[in-house]
Amino acid sequence: MAGHIPKEFIDQLLGRIDIVDVVNKRVPLKKAGREYTACCPFHNEKTPSFTVSPTKQFFHCFGCGAHGSAISFMMEYDHLEYVEAIEALARNLGVEVPREKTMGNQKPRKQLDSSLYGLMEETSKHFSNELNKSQKAIEYIKERDLSPEIIQQYSVGYSTNEWDRLTQLFGKEYGQQKLLACGLQIENDSGRVYDRFRDRLMFPIRDRRGRVIGFGGRVLGDGAPKYLNSPETDIFHKGSELYGLYEARNNTRKLAKFLVVEGYMDVIALAQFGITYAVATMGTATTIEHIGQLYKSGVTQVVFCFDGDRAGEEAAWKALKNALPAVNDDREIRFQFLPEGDDPDTLVRRLGKEGYEAELKKALPFSKFFIRGINEGLGLKAESTLHSIEDSARFATEASRLLDQMPASLLKKSLLQEIQRLGHVTSRPSNTQGFSAEGQQRNFDRPYRKNFGRFAEKTQGAPSQPGDYAVKKTPVRYAITLLLNAPELVSEVGNPEKLLEWDIPGMNLLFKLVETAEENPHIHSAGLMERFRDTEHEKILLKLMKWQPQEADMQVLQQEFQDCFRQIKRQAREKALEKLIHKDQTVGLNSQEQHDLQSLLYDTL
Ligand code: GTP
Ligand code: MN
Repeated sequence: MAGHIPKEFIDQLLGRIDIVDVVNKRVPLKKAGREYTACCPFHNEKTPSFTVSPTKQFFHCFGCGAHGSAISFMMEYDHLEYVEAIEALARNLGVEVPREKTMGNQKPRKQLDSSLYGLMEETSKHFSNELNKSQKAIEYIKERDLSPEIIQQYSVGYSTNEWDRLTQLFGKEYGQQKLLACGLQIENDSGRVYDRFRDRLMFPIRDRRGRVIGFGGRVLGDGAPKYLNSPETDIFHKGSELYGLYEARNNTRKLAKFLVVEGYMDVIALAQFGITYAVATMGTATTIEHIGQLYKSGVTQVVFCFDGDRAGEEAAWKALKNALPAVNDDREIRFQFLPEGDDPDTLVRRLGKEGYEAELKKALPFSKFFIRGINEGLGLKAESTLHSIEDSARFATEASRLLDQMPASLLKKSLLQEIQRLGHVTSRPSNTQGFSAEGQQRNFDRPYRKNFGRFAEKTQGAPSQPGDYAVKKTPVRYAITLLLNAPELVSEVGNPEKLLEWDIPGMNLLFKLVETAEENPHIHSAGLMERFRDTEHEKILLKLMKWQPQEADMQVLQQEFQDCFRQIKRQAREKALEKLIHKDQTVGLNSQEQHDLQSLLYDTL
């Protein structure tokens, strides 16, 4: 059994290959200044916003936010697993991938994961085969009027009415542990293991790359529960996956929008009638991760479709709230409420493609639903009937609370104006800038502040992934950003251990980066990032790296980096002072603390 690939090997590999060659072989690149550009292979676009940096050994798309090292590029573009990508790159150089010896006979986790995908795919094929053999399932398909083409496109299948069909199929020895791990079987209290899905119409759920990661299963006819879904597993996370996303991306010629509906059957019926861009959440509310998945595919419009009843409206409001951080001027979000008694499945069958799309055009714009929703949530009637000061104040508070979560945009500005026009709220200038104003931000040193501001604007304006908004721009984070973009800056850090004495959030991560960059003097951005792949820090580091300082001049970067440290030190000092002064005024200080207080007071940076 193969063990882990040593980190040093990955460093060396990334040091020897050139990402420009790797990408250029697959997507022809054009030189533009210090970087290379092309139309992004990960979303549809006409003007190039995909760039590859030879110095950082990183690619980045300003359009869809795709971003990463040569390894990440291979994984995304060639649909490879992490290890496969490394092996492919090594093969090009003609070198063997070394493995660390594993302890005992424990198998590494990654190995298990990739085999789960295979198991799911085989199971899906099995369900598909069973569909044609079951008279009952065929009858049900007929009753629901699903075409053979659509059954094939969405790989709809059938699970037979047996307790151990999958054990028969995969064998106990090979299969059971994995069948349990991917939620296809259940173990009860007395240790009996049996198939989760029996006598159900099966809908395989695929990830972006088309790998089967879960299933939804519907009873044929009446019965409870109507739907069974796969549980959360190592490879299936309901909160971030959308049913039909892969199929929508594959089957829609020019994917410009997504329609988000509630049911599997809705997605399939819509597709059968030519609306191939529908996706569904799986019995959960729409999350920011879902919305991220949608925009990552390069669309600019998303329509959420809900029942016209109270529950539908509540679900829609939840979706709106989760979408706030993702709203910007390039993106349109609408809400469609269906007539009572209809769902997209029944409606599209009645209206056809054209009729349904005409309805979609009438969907409620984000801004309208925003104002209406606040009023309704507060139990207020139409906005024009708002008289009392108390009502206005409640409206204003709620509106600002929500607006605070939106990044800066013209839409946000107009919403603010609209709310003011209604006489509801007074202006809050910090919000209109979309910058989370922190006290510390005001007293930045000048040169630092100059670029910090620009970097903030860039972050706000860039159509990057939703979620970016949530990261406040602090000096520690900016220092991390600078270091990720130019690891050689590490030479500016005098005494790394000192960092850990400063009690500031994020310091531990900054220290880890400094340590890694110090130990590997020639490491470039991509190598540094790879060190953190699959760690708890990966996500935040990717976000921070995307912020990219605009200024490429090394001297300016050095100055900014030092300014960050000055700022961090000042923050740490103020925090320590506050703590000591508080203690002095409450329980009193011991002699060491008195000494500390004195030196802090007279330490004027
Ligand atoms: P049909 O009745 O077959 O047309 O289904 P539908 O797609 O119209 O489903 P419905 O509107 O009843 O439910 C929407 C979605 O909610 C489904 O696709 C499931 O994801 C989920 N759901 C519905 N019923 C159940 C249930 O009993 N259990 C679970 N876990 N999820 C359900
Ligand atoms: Mn339905």
